[in-house]
Amino acid sequence: MGKLVVVHSFRGGTGKSNITANLAALLASRGNRVGIVDTDIQSPGIHALFSLAPDHFKFALNDYLWKRCRIEEAAYDVSDILRKYQPEASGHIYLIPASMRTGEITRILQEGYDVGLLNNGFQQFMETLELDYLLIDTHPGVNEETLLSAAISDVLVIILRPDRQDYQGTAIMVELARQLEVPKMLLLINKAVNQKDFAALRQRVESIYSVGVAGVIPLSEEVAVLGSTDLFCLLHPSHPMTLALQSAIGEIIGS
Ligand SMILES: Nc1ncnc2c1ncn2[C@@H]1O[C@H](COP(=O)(O)OP(=O)(O)OP(=O)(O)O)[C@@H](O)[C@H]1O
Ligand SMILES: [Mg+2]
Repeated sequence: MGKLVVVHSFRGGTGKSNITANLAALLASRGNRVGIVDTDIQSPGIHALFSLAPDHFKFALNDYLWKRCRIEEAAYDVSDILRKYQPEASGHIYLIPASMRTGEITRILQEGYDVGLLNNGFQQFMETLELDYLLIDTHPGVNEETLLSAAISDVLVIILRPDRQDYQGTAIMVELARQLEVPKMLLLINKAVNQKDFAALRQRVESIYSVGVAGVIPLSEEVAVLGSTDLFCLLHPSHPMTLALQSAIGEIIGS
C-alpha cells in the first residue's frame, strides 16, 4: 500500500502547489509511481506546472465527486515532463486536476460535496494505479476536507514562510495535527531570505513547534520567473530548493 502525503499551509501562496509538483517529480525520478490530487477545488492550479491544459481534462476531481466517473478516469499521465529531463527515468506521475470551469467551481461552493467520498477516492486511486506515493495539494487554512485528509495521512507536510502571520497560523495547524494523531509531521520553510541565517531559522522554528524542519527553501527569483510553467527541481538539480526538497523526500521515504 502506498503512502499518503498531504501538503498544506495555513496561509495561501506559501508554495504548496509548486512544492507538491516538484516533490512528485523527484519521487518519480527515483523510479516511484506517484499520484497527485488537486483538492484545492475553489482555486485549482497544480495542472499548470505539468502543462496540462484545462480544456484537455475530460474528467476532473469534481466529476468523481458528482459520481460522473470513477476516480481513475480523472487521472492523467503527466510523466512526459519527467522524461523530458530524464529520458531513462522509470517512474510515473498521474495527476487528478480539479475543474477550471466557472460553473463547476461555483456549484461546489454552493452545494459542497461528500468529503468521505474524497477519502475513499484516494484509496481507490492508490490501489488502481498501484501508487507508491499519493500527494495531496490542498486549499489553505482550516477546512473540513483538509482535516479529514490529514487524519488519514501517513505524512503531513506543513509549509510556512518566515512571516508572523504564517507563524501564528502554523501553530494552529500543528495543534490540529497533534489532535488528529497524524503519524508524521514535517515542516518546510519556503521563501526564506538571508541564506547565512538558515541554520538559525531552522532551529528557531523547530523549537517553536517541536516539529522537525525538513528543509529551508530560499526565496528565489528564478522560481518566480518560471511562474509555475515547469518543474524547477528537474531544471535545476543542484539548486538549494531542490536540495531542500530532496531532504524532505528522505524523511517521507524513511517515515
Ligand atoms: N521559493 C520561492 N521563491 C520565489 N517564488 C516562489 C517560491 N516558491 C513559490 N513561489 C511562487 O509563489 C507563488 C505561489 O506559489 P504556489 O501557487 O505554489 O503557492 P500555493 O501555496 O499553492 O498557493 P495557494 O494557497 O494559492 O494554492 C507562485 O508564483 C510561485 O512561483
Ligand atoms: Mg496551490
